[in-house]
Amino acid sequence: MQILSVSSLKGGVGKTSVTMGLASAALSSGVRTLVIDLDPHADCTTGLSVARGKGREAGQLLKEYRKARISDHVVPSGWVDLLPEEKKQGAVLDVVVGSALSAAFDRPDIRPRDMKRLKTLVDRLSGYDLVLVDCPPSLSGLTRIAWAASNQVLLVAEPSLFSVAGTERTMRAIRMFSNEFAPQLTQAGVVVNRARADSTEHEYRLLEMERLYTDKLMLPVLEENPHWQQIQGAAYPVHLWPGDPVRDMAKSFDELLKQLLPAKKLNP
Ligand SMILES: Nc1ncnc2c1ncn2[C@@H]1O[C@H](COP(=O)(O)OP(=O)(O)OP(=O)(O)O)[C@@H](O)[C@H]1O
Ligand SMILES: [Mg+2]
Repeated sequence: MQILSVSSLKGGVGKTSVTMGLASAALSSGVRTLVIDLDPHADCTTGLSVARGKGREAGQLLKEYRKARISDHVVPSGWVDLLPEEKKQGAVLDVVVGSALSAAFDRPDIRPRDMKRLKTLVDRLSGYDLVLVDCPPSLSGLTRIAWAASNQVLLVAEPSLFSVAGTERTMRAIRMFSNEFAPQLTQAGVVVNRARADSTEHEYRLLEMERLYTDKLMLPVLEENPHWQQIQGAAYPVHLWPGDPVRDMAKSFDELLKQLLPAKKLNP
């Protein structure tokens, strides 16, 4: 089971969007996936079309981590109902619902034993090929809880000066964290989001990222897409949205997912 935290210490760069794009790619290729929404804002829960009030929320599960079983509280994403009949059979996209309750764990001084709460829950989990954890934009308690439970961290960055600097800080933080608390944790790579082909600044920053991150920079780069907010607003999977520009974006997520998962997990 691949457990992947989607992180960046900088806000608004597209962590939730990348989590949702990968979840959509996973759903369309038959990868059994669980999304854990650790962000107290719970944007991912909304985007995955999960009705509020269903399933015990992430914060509650973290509180009851000794006894609770994630599998008793997951909620299926409404995206599954949108699939064509032939793909619905056996499709798994479940969600651990996010809510403000998890904010209680987002303390900068979280104790090492509290950092293991999600790991304890995830260690008892089975039946999924992929677990995606959508993280809040900080290195406080919740991100540490996510990293302690994960095999890999996928970083999201925008092609801008502040985001490049933020990504370097995040990479350093992951190295320190894995040395100290999570030897299993590695960096999956950096996904660049919201790139614009007509921007010389973006072109410059992309070259800079290529130089800085070498083999960690993941391709393809995700482009700024004028339909993206509408797709999210409709709580729809990008793979089912009509139109060529969106289809290209869906293909980009397919490519990224292929690199993140062992090949045998993907159905054609
Ligand atoms: N490729 C894209 N094209 C167009 N809009 C995008 C793209 N990626 C993200 N956005 C928009 O940018 C905004 C921020 O994206 P998102 O919420 O995914 O970022 P985030 O890193 O999860 O934010 P936070 O740090 O607050 O959790 C959203 O309104 C989203 O719709
Ligand atoms: Mg987010």
